[in-house]
Parts: sequence; C-alpha cells; structure tokens
Amino acid sequence: MSIKQEVERRRTFAIISHPDAGKTTLTEKLLLFAGAIQIAGSVKARKASRHASSDWMEIEKQRGISVASSVMQMEYRDCVINLLDTPGHQDFSEDTYRVLTAVDAALMVIDAGNGVEPQTIRLLQVCRARNTPIITFINKLDREVREPLDLLSEIEGHLGMDAVPFSWPVGMGRSFGGVFDIRRNRMRVFRAGQERRDNHDELIEGLDNPAISARFGDMFEKARDEIELIQAAAPAFDHKAFLAGKQTPVFFGSAINNFGVQEVLDALVDLAPQPGPREALQRPVQPDEPKFSGVVFKVQANMDPAHRDRVAFVRVSSGRFQRGMKLRVSRTGKEIRPNNVVSFLSQRRELLDEAYAGDVIGIPNHGVLQLGDVLTEGEQLQFTGLPFFAPELFQAVEVKDPLRTKQLRIGLTQLGEEGAIQVFRPEVAGGALLLGAVGQLQFEVVAHRLKTEYGVDARLMPSRYNMARWFTADDPKVLRKFMDSNVANIAYDVVDAPAFLASSPAQLRVAQELFPDIVFHTMREHG
Ligand code: G4P
Repeated sequence: MSIKQEVERRRTFAIISHPDAGKTTLTEKLLLFAGAIQIAGSVKARKASRHASSDWMEIEKQRGISVASSVMQMEYRDCVINLLDTPGHQDFSEDTYRVLTAVDAALMVIDAGNGVEPQTIRLLQVCRARNTPIITFINKLDREVREPLDLLSEIEGHLGMDAVPFSWPVGMGRSFGGVFDIRRNRMRVFRAGQERRDNHDELIEGLDNPAISARFGDMFEKARDEIELIQAAAPAFDHKAFLAGKQTPVFFGSAINNFGVQEVLDALVDLAPQPGPREALQRPVQPDEPKFSGVVFKVQANMDPAHRDRVAFVRVSSGRFQRGMKLRVSRTGKEIRPNNVVSFLSQRRELLDEAYAGDVIGIPNHGVLQLGDVLTEGEQLQFTGLPFFAPELFQAVEVKDPLRTKQLRIGLTQLGEEGAIQVFRPEVAGGALLLGAVGQLQFEVVAHRLKTEYGVDARLMPSRYNMARWFTADDPKVLRKFMDSNVANIAYDVVDAPAFLASSPAQLRVAQELFPDIVFHTMREHG
C-alpha cells in the first residue's frame, strides 16, 4: 500500500471525559467491536489495578502496563484507528493536555446523569483552542438520567458549538426502549447485556411506523416530538463545520450494554478526519511525504527510574517509519536508530513494525529525547504548537540538605525539560524555586523522582501564587517597565521565558488594566 493510502485509512483520536462517565468502558467496547480484544474486561482490569492503589509509587510499578495501553490501535472497516487515552483525575497532568496535540479528533464521553462536568470542560478548552473536531457520546441511558434536550443545550453552551444529534433516545432507565437513528430513519431496540458483539439487534424502520408507536407508546411519542423539534430548529449536519470544530455529532447509548457503540465506531471511520498537514517553522509538512518526520508529545518514565529509562511517545507526522531506521533529532543533531520500539496494544504485529502519519511509536531512551523534539531522516524541522499550559497549582521547593542544592537544580531542570513539571525561577534574588502544575499528582511524582533519581530530599511548601501568565509586548521599553514595576511577581520558566505570577484573578486584572500594551498568554508553545 502506498504512503498516501496508508494515511487515508488512518484515524487518530483521543477519548476524553470526566472520571466515571464511562471512558474505560467505552474504550473497551470499541476495541471489542473492532475485534482488537476478544473478551471485555482487559482494559477495565488495568484501570482497577491502577486505581485500587492511591499510593503513587504503586502506580509507578504499573507503568510498564500503562505505557502499553495508553495508545491502542485497532483495524476496523479497512481503517486503522489509533485511540489515545487521556488519564483520569488521579493522573491528571499536563500530559493529558499534550495528548490532545497529537490527535486529529476527540471522542467526548458524557454521563447522561451528570451532563458536562469540570474535567471535561478543561479538556474541551484545549480542543476548542485547536479547533479539534469532537464526536459526542452520551452514556448511561439505561439509568434515570437528564432530559436529552437539556443535555444538548448544556453541551452547546460549554462547547460553543452546535450539537447535531445523529440518534435520539426512546425512554430511559427501566423504560429505555432504544435509540432512534435519525439519519437512517430507524430504531435500534435496546437489549441489555455485555457479552454480545453480534449484529442481531432488532431494527424497526420509520419515524412514522405505527408498529413503533404501538410498542413503545408515550415514550416514543415524546421522542418523536423531540426529534421533529430538533429537525425543525437545529442546523443540519455539515461535515465541514464538524471538521472546523464548529459542530459536534451526538450519539446516545449505554456503553456497558454495548449499546450505541457500533454507531460511534462507524462515525470515527466515516466522519473523523485523516491525518492532515502539520506546521513546522520551516514549511508545512504533508502526511504523505516520502520522508519520515515525527514529534515527541509525551515522555514517560518507565519501569526502572534508577536508570532514567524513558519512553518517548512520537506522533508520526509524515512518511513511513520502519524499525531500525536512522533518525536525526532536530534539537541536538544526534542520530538514533530505534530498534526496540515499545509495543502498544495492537491487533497485528506488522502494525508495530511500520508506522504512518497519525500513528504513535514509543521509543525507549535514556534522556536523548525530550518533549517537543522532532525526529526526521535528516532535514532540520521544528514543529510549532506543542503547548505548555499556564499552571494552576504552585508550590515552593527547597532542599532539606543545603549541600544538595546543585542536585536539586539539575533534577528540576531535567524534569522540567521532560515536561513532568514546570519550574519557575523568581526574578527576586534568593527566592525559592517554584513548581507549577495543572494536576496535584505532578508534585507527588516530582518529589518522588527527585528522591529516587537525584538523591534529593525536597521540601514542598505552599505558595501564595495560583495563576501564571506568560507575557510579551511589542515595545521592549514597555516590557522593561512592566517587569520593573512587578519584580516580586516575575519568574522565568525552563527556557527563560518570563511569566507573571498572581495570587488572584483580581491581581492579574489590575496588571492588565495598568499595562494595556502587555499581552498575557495562558499557553506557551515549545521552541
Ligand atoms: P471512566 O473510565 O470514565 O472513569 O468510567 P468507567 O468506564 O470506569 O465507568 C464508570 C462506572 O460507570 C463503572 O461503574 C461502569 O460500570 C459504569 N458504566 C459505564 N457505562 C455505563 C452504562 O452505560 N450504564 C451504566 N448504568 N453504567 C455504566 P463502577 O461501579 O464504578 O465500576 P464497575 O464495578 O461496574 O466496574
């Protein structure tokens, strides 16, 4: 198959949700329906083993498994689907955000009882910033949940995009009758059960079919009224608007009952985009170019922290990756020849030996590869767009034994480069280093790794800051004046980009009002 054909059949997406909405269940069912796993329970078992333990060090032991299953590849209807997991709240970190930079679409799972929840909102903001197309799955219709019309308007409110239902539920909870496929004009009758993966669901044709009314009565009348209302009021599905992140197709179902899963899988193949071009500073890179290029979007410490084993997750941007090929790291000019590529969950072996745009390869290394690194067959390329997000949590860090200060700095620099945490050096001389994170777990990870990998006993202390904004100005004099007037709130990040640290939104607002020519940024791009 040509590179072009391989690219055309790829779909790469992240699955996002608030914890407990049913992400793990849906993931597993997608794999089951695509034939990538035979028995439901394997993904779930992994989650149980990880989350049963609240102790991060236990999680660390499980990392080998979690690396392997954080990217899943399946073949379905001649397409290769790459599914990237985004961790739940316990693991929430900047990694979660960065995964979204490596995908072409997102599948959002919503608990129909809870609607749009906080964690989903944070992830959605990142999708919105990048205009990532989103497919929505509303789960748990087998329970007494919220009214579907309510849920739709809530989604529209949070997403700032039109929600276009592809299916509509008939009843819910105990009286859940099934979903009506609006586009195919037929109803799929609900059947509870987890183990089946057959095509023997009962289908009844036609919104006007008296047989459906007779069987489902008021419940169906209500659904039909709602469908008619939507058809009159809501915009029709427009594929271009979906690809531009302006419309989201919505599906209803019950993941645990395997209900509505097939429709989602089909939507991924039919609606989600194939990998597109990626912007590099030098030029746009087309996915079907003959030469390989890829970017490291995530670095994960592997099993043995003492050896600084890391796995770099590389999203292929162009060309064909082959095991053992010679690759050049753009940042350093170093050459590597990845022979042992970490295997992710995949149906077929050959999928692991070759990779194309949209695929993810895991390359074990000892620190040669950093976040944002670009790998090519020789060309100098720097991709834009790997973001660092303004931290929302801060802690000051000190070393218990002053003789280990140097080790602390080395450790923090390396962990900062790896993206495990953001490190800020205050402008004020003698101020303690500050750690910035988007998830609490990041602090625990860093304290643990400082100790095991760098022999540093770090003391983490509360900080008065809880917001950071990178800032720029066209006029260097304005920039200087701003910095001089706010010395106590200025700190530099790992690449010496200055940031303004605030202890409250009000403080940030004041700074914005006093210095209207300063532009404040919530995201900084790598490079
Ligand atoms: P997450 O990855 O988003 O955190 O969610 P997960 O799939 O683990 O699902 C969270 C809970 O919701 C699980 O129950 C799961 O069984 C349940 N669930 C998922 N899909 C459905 C659905 O369609 N209907 C109903 N009623 N429940 C659903 P749990 O009690 O936490 O775990 P378990 O004991 O069932 O494994």
